[in-house]
Amino acid sequence: MPDLSINFAGIKSPNPFWLASAPPTNSGYQIMKAFDAGWGGAVWKTLGVPVVNVSSRYGGVNYRDKRLVGFNNIELISDRPLADNLREIEEVKKRFPNHAVIASLMVQSRQEWHDIVRQSQDAGADGFELNFGCPHGMCERGMGSAVGQEPKILQMIVEWVMEVATKPVIVKLTPNISDITEPALAARRGGADAISLINTIQSIVGVDIDQFAPYPIVDGKGSNGGYCGPAVKPIALNMVKNCAQHPDIKLPISGIGGIENWRDAVEHILLGASSVQVCTAAMHFGFGIIREMTSGLEQYMVDKGFSTIYDFVGKALPNVLPWEQLNMKYKVMANIHAEKCIGCQLCYTACEDGAHQAIRLNAGTRVPEIIEENCVGCNLCSLVCPVEDCITMDRTDSGTEHITWKERVAAGTAPTEFNDERAGGRHHWVPEPSAALGKERHKTLPGKARVYAGDLGL
Ligand SMILES: Cc1cc2nc3c(=O)[nH]c(=O)nc-3n(C[C@H](O)[C@H](O)[C@H](O)COP(=O)(O)O)c2cc1C
Ligand code: SF4
Ligand code: SF4
Repeated sequence: MPDLSINFAGIKSPNPFWLASAPPTNSGYQIMKAFDAGWGGAVWKTLGVPVVNVSSRYGGVNYRDKRLVGFNNIELISDRPLADNLREIEEVKKRFPNHAVIASLMVQSRQEWHDIVRQSQDAGADGFELNFGCPHGMCERGMGSAVGQEPKILQMIVEWVMEVATKPVIVKLTPNISDITEPALAARRGGADAISLINTIQSIVGVDIDQFAPYPIVDGKGSNGGYCGPAVKPIALNMVKNCAQHPDIKLPISGIGGIENWRDAVEHILLGASSVQVCTAAMHFGFGIIREMTSGLEQYMVDKGFSTIYDFVGKALPNVLPWEQLNMKYKVMANIHAEKCIGCQLCYTACEDGAHQAIRLNAGTRVPEIIEENCVGCNLCSLVCPVEDCITMDRTDSGTEHITWKERVAAGTAPTEFNDERAGGRHHWVPEPSAALGKERHKTLPGKARVYAGDLGL
């Protein structure tokens, strides 16, 4: 059986799955219930200064039949009394001594930081997460992302915390910045033990077109909120990768953003995270999702022969390269498997209007055909095809040659002008512009046995 336990910058946890600081970690009741269900750790809903929340607070992005592909909130930090939260932290730690309980904190002055770190330490928290990420409400009061976007201030606050902290300190980063590595480096300079990312992305999820106000609506008005959920995973993965690859950051990373199942968690881990945090999925589906997460992760580790999480932390990083280091000799081409095709012809439309006019329709069949000499191997048709593995992208080069743009520049073989024989796209066929106009198309395409949708009455 693989060992799922982790030691994250000194914080021990029976598995890498933590609940992120958010409504699911608002109370001892919820956290005990989550631990009982199988979660390894929880980052308590951020403790700090007194706040008052508004109603309503959440907005969602639904995509076709899927609800909450994206989720947005204008909620603040914990609005419960600090003393209640601290008492419940103590209670949870007593009942679950081997689980990770991390206090998320956000205050303003040096004295306030010292006080709240000491109080949470005394309550038995295993570590701290400094919330420098909240992109609404708290930043207007000089906290949250207002700090996360200013590396010097962030570093200074981390230094204040390190003056009194006897437990590991995680700095939670805001994605609302052009280069995530800058605050990560500032966290390191300040002495932090780890970083976590991402917090929510500043956003407006939609506008009520009758009330003329953004969601969520508060008495006819709205405000920008923080975006999270499955839609943000690609942004989170890229930022986790940027921090993990940076040679000077070298801090354990807790990956957050769009994690809904074991596979999402594995992706974060492969790009450098050694613990993962979940918010939206727990709010959407409840704590029970942890069962699929742990069993799926365990099975993945068995299949791959990994004994511990650390066997695959960052394993994909060597394969994430700058574009100029990719092999330009590698070629793939679309291949339509006629026996699977349902004849929807989405691939034809996509390639015809959105790519390289490399798919033709043939009279007498609804199965389209690839025009091999035009296919650049962009993937678009295989991405739009609704049938699994109906269009595969098959390798067509011999696999023996390898040259990158960087190597071509160094060797002086990179094209420097458009009519250079070596320039990309030079010998690539494109239709004459007038061929776009109805029957004219035929006249300008000698030798191309093409049948158009219009001709087939489509
Ligand atoms: C309603 C709501 C409240 C949140 N409150 C906090 C908070 O108090 N402190 C914090 O650090 N992050 C907070 N977050 C951000 C989450 O911890 C997490 O970083 C973000 O939701 C991305 O993860 P996800 O895609 O799994 O939701 C909140 C998120 C939501 C949706
Ligand atoms: S998109 Fe797929 S199923 Fe539809 S016509 Fe093309 S190959 Fe066939
Ligand atoms: S891979 Fe791109 S160019 Fe080739 S057929 Fe598909 S959409 Fe067209």
